[in-house]
Amino acid sequence: MRILVCGGAGFIGSHTCTVLAERGHELVIADSFVNSSPRVEGRLEAILGHAPACHRVDLLDRGAVAALFACERFDAVIHFAALKAVGESCERPLDYFDNNIAGTIHLLQAMRAAGVGRLVFSSSATVYGDPDTVPVCEDAALRVSNPYGRSKLVMEQLIGDLCTYDPGFQAVNLRYFNPVGAHPSGLIGEDPGGIPGNLMPYICQVAVGRRERLEVFGGDWPTVDGTGVRDYIHVMDLARAHADALDFLFRERRSATVNLGTGRGTSVLQLVRAFGRASGREIPHRIVARRAGDVAEVYADPSLARSLLGWQAELDIDAMCRDAWRWQSMNPDGYGDEPAAGTAAHATASRRVPDQVSEAIAGG
Ligand code: UD1
Repeated sequence: MRILVCGGAGFIGSHTCTVLAERGHELVIADSFVNSSPRVEGRLEAILGHAPACHRVDLLDRGAVAALFACERFDAVIHFAALKAVGESCERPLDYFDNNIAGTIHLLQAMRAAGVGRLVFSSSATVYGDPDTVPVCEDAALRVSNPYGRSKLVMEQLIGDLCTYDPGFQAVNLRYFNPVGAHPSGLIGEDPGGIPGNLMPYICQVAVGRRERLEVFGGDWPTVDGTGVRDYIHVMDLARAHADALDFLFRERRSATVNLGTGRGTSVLQLVRAFGRASGREIPHRIVARRAGDVAEVYADPSLARSLLGWQAELDIDAMCRDAWRWQSMNPDGYGDEPAAGTAAHATASRRVPDQVSEAIAGG
């Protein structure tokens, strides 16, 4: 099939591209590169033996999105393109609503105009907020606690309404738990701009010497060792789930919302120790106050993904740490782009960068 991958140069998008290509799909990447590196293209070429088609398109540019669908034919779309920093979303909620929600509306409009009715959407376990019980099932209460989470929930709801009222439209919402790790080649991986907000990239930067020590947010949580427990999932397992979700859409022609996690919780200190084993380096750390908005323990009930998609996670914490470390040690400065992208302000500033890849689309 011919698949449009919006946000295909980002962390999860780029890994998904490798799996889709290996399964014989033809890919077209659309990415604004406001929070990802153009160097991903060359890395994908090195992994795949050919470069996937890649267009610089910002979903906020309605005309460019429409032009993309006018120039190219797609069987389905996978939509990763969104801003995702929780703290930044609290400082700039309107940028998050605009970029994530308006961008998604433009994409959905272009899909419907072109008669493309299959979508796999990147959602997040953030829609569960602080769940009442673990493991978390898909029918748990939805309660978001920040504008980033709100934007994910609203996008799910907009897509859900289309699925309900448009018989020609089906979507799978994938609620990711905590994606970590990297492609086994070490050529692509997670490269957050600025100071990492998430645990694994922070540990990687401590291990490689870019940061002095990890601050562990809270040692008094009601968990196995007092530190926060999460469901870390290898990005290659996650990537495979997207290909399985596409198969589900074409096989069953119905919509679904599924959790993607391992079903196992790992504490901060357990992850620090696993990373130490994988890297052979000590990870200096100290326990500090809890982070505002954090919760004690969140992990998935992934059984629906197994029954609907035939998918389950295969890679364990040691594999996640080994592959994250391979990427970080081979690329101590990530993709080495200048300057670190990833803020909404940066997104606004670079939105109208001319598209060298596809003049037709830039011309609208
Ligand atoms: C975060 C996001 C969430 C997003 C998810 C996956 C917040 C509040 N939530 O969740 O919306 O869906 O990532 O990308 O940011 N920790 C430390 N020190 C650090 C960083 C983290 O101790 O420097 C701890 C946290 O307290 C937590 C665990 O590590 O217990 C995981 O944190 P993180 O990687 O930020 O993920 P989440 O909090 O699950």
